[in-house]
Amino acid sequence: MFDVEKIRGDFPLLHLKPGGKDLLYFDSAATTQKPLQVISAITDFYQNNYGTVHRAIYTLAATSTKRYSEVREKVAQFLDAASSDEIVFTKGTTEAINLVATCFGKEFLEKGDEILISQTEHHSNIVPWQNICKEKGAILTVAPVNSKGELILDEFEKLLNHKTKLVSIAHISNVTGTIHPIKKIIAMAHKVGAKVFIDAAQSASHIPFSVQGLDVDFLAFSGHKIYGPTGIGILYGKKELLKALPPYQFGGDMILGVSFTDTTYQEPPLKFEAGTPPIGEVIGLGAALDYISQVGKQNIADWEHGLTKYATQRLLEIEGLRLIGTAEHKSAIISFLIDGVHPLDLGTMLDTKAVAIRTGHLCAQPTMQFFGTTSLNRISFGLYNTLEEIDEFIRRLKEVLSFLRA
Ligand SMILES: Cc1ncc(COP(=O)(O)O)c(C=O)c1O
Repeated sequence: MFDVEKIRGDFPLLHLKPGGKDLLYFDSAATTQKPLQVISAITDFYQNNYGTVHRAIYTLAATSTKRYSEVREKVAQFLDAASSDEIVFTKGTTEAINLVATCFGKEFLEKGDEILISQTEHHSNIVPWQNICKEKGAILTVAPVNSKGELILDEFEKLLNHKTKLVSIAHISNVTGTIHPIKKIIAMAHKVGAKVFIDAAQSASHIPFSVQGLDVDFLAFSGHKIYGPTGIGILYGKKELLKALPPYQFGGDMILGVSFTDTTYQEPPLKFEAGTPPIGEVIGLGAALDYISQVGKQNIADWEHGLTKYATQRLLEIEGLRLIGTAEHKSAIISFLIDGVHPLDLGTMLDTKAVAIRTGHLCAQPTMQFFGTTSLNRISFGLYNTLEEIDEFIRRLKEVLSFLRA
């Protein structure tokens, strides 16, 4: 069923040999590599189909518009949304969060209201909320996690109250890899009338879920983390909520009628898509979704679960290694510290051995503070990684450590 060698054959970049060594790409949580199917879909579109969308009558533009709109349908299917009208194209997760923070904040936040996030959010799921709270005199509250990186549900529940207007939380933490129990979280938040935004940047290509099954109000992910291109992301929003929000940006495509005194707007999703959209990126995203669907979401989740379990075991062989994030339910992300070895030194030395890992604050400084550090080492997997690569990684890691500790 799951043929990893065939999959690896689809990803040209994985076959690079920096310095004559096989590349070990262990940074898929930052961004994934792209299969030929995505690369060729984009090239083919620009070579054979390219035209503007929503604007012109000629055949190229009409075909382009059709293909562009079909991807919106594909995204709706991928997320199990009730309608493609609930799918807004954005630049990525960050822009989707900024859109909702700005527009929801403008329309619904009042002085003294609360927005609840968690202790272990990415900066892009902290700063937009912090900013709108400051503007509106609202309060940003933070639900704690335990030392394993799991949300403390009792504490989370205590923080919910009638002033909580929105809860925003990552499905999977980009630092700890914790898979948060979002179905429970959403139900708890709904009990006090709060809306819920799920940051699915780290989950969309790793575990299957349904937005209708979750009953989530808003959800976002980025194309470049799911084997698609950069510059494209998705905001899912329930239809009635998207309708209730004011526009985010203003310009072509999102208007119905314009005069010098007043303007009327399109219905969502177009209301939130001002200007010529990233047409080629949308086509690439469509090909990435096809790719994931063909391999099978559950197959990917199972494969990556095996990789994570095995890599965790093997890492624990390393003397002085401390895992950061030991939740019971974890995704394909493993962060760690090694006694006496600075992450930046480790990352630099591993790079000389053709190993790409992430080091630094991982865009999550408050999470670093919680774990008592300023930076971490993180390895993360995609559907193309193998157990053999993990063995080779441990071998090269041991070599680097014997040099650094000499
Ligand atoms: C949990 C999480 N949220 C949000 C983002 C932001 O995604 P992007 O930079 O693609 O907008 C990331 C990226 O690393 C992430 O890991």
